[in-house]
Amino acid sequence: MTEPQHHRNTGVTDRVAIVTGAGSGIGRATAIAMARAGTRVLGVGRRHEALQATAAHHPGIATHPADLRAPDAPAEVVRAAMQRWGRIDVLVNNAGATGMMPLAETDADRIAALFALNVTAPSLLAAAALPHLRGRGGTIVNVSSTYGHRPLPGAAHYAASKAAIEQLTRCWALELASEGVRVNAVAPGPTESEALSAAGLTEADAARIKEAEAARIPLGRRGEPDEVAQWVLRLADPGTTWLTGQVLTLDGGLELT
Ligand SMILES: NC(=O)c1ccc[n+]([C@@H]2O[C@H](COP(=O)([O-])OP(=O)(O)OC[C@H]3O[C@@H](n4cnc5c(N)ncnc54)[C@H](OP(=O)(O)O)[C@@H]3O)[C@@H](O)[C@H]2O)c1
Repeated sequence: MTEPQHHRNTGVTDRVAIVTGAGSGIGRATAIAMARAGTRVLGVGRRHEALQATAAHHPGIATHPADLRAPDAPAEVVRAAMQRWGRIDVLVNNAGATGMMPLAETDADRIAALFALNVTAPSLLAAAALPHLRGRGGTIVNVSSTYGHRPLPGAAHYAASKAAIEQLTRCWALELASEGVRVNAVAPGPTESEALSAAGLTEADAARIKEAEAARIPLGRRGEPDEVAQWVLRLADPGTTWLTGQVLTLDGGLELT
């Protein structure tokens, strides 16, 4: 009898994951949680010091500073992981940016920059990692948002970029199913991170938005990065064998309102 593919995994301890956006927020929490679970992690992001601060939490985390919008960066990230460990089991496409842009202020360069990071970079990373994910129960976890499937007035292009990553998740899941590669996504709601300051908001504006968000969330608060990271781990876990093409919303009930 042929051994089922999922039994061929050699266990959590020799696995390798690429986690983008590992210098802060959900990506940092994911890198640390994965390393603690015994996976070797290549953390990617632009800020060297931020990645170093993540790596300081666990010796299983290595860093690869890169701007993922640079055309060659995704292939170089995959090459770096292969050179270091000779295998890739998990790709977590977490790096992303948000941005308010009302229709009246639509700007081609801002749309291009947003899609380059939120849609094109995950696509190129997935393509570059694919040959290494095949045949070993490799898996991809994309990071969407509640607003990947709910409208967000004033930030339509951010929402559209996350809708794109959700549809990529479903398409790749079907496309890669016969090769044993699972593809899923998490869709966090408002979560503590550097996202609002990275979007250029002042501290006062960010605080106002956070308060308003917490008031709208049925569970009464914003999420913590580790509350998202734990589910990224479960989706990527070799024991999760029959789940593919799914988008798991983690938002304290926000999408139900
Ligand atoms: N926090 C939320 O409320 C929330 C809600 C829904 C979805 N999300 C999604 O969750 C993911 C993680 O965000 P977060 O909340 O943890 O926010 P964050 O703290 O701002 O993390 C984003 C990460 O992406 C990295 N990054 C940004 N631009 C990059 C680039 N050009 N190249 C490489 N790395 C880049 C950043 O590091 P560098 O600046 O050093 O490059 C940063 O570590 C994103 O996809 C975001 O859209 C967040």
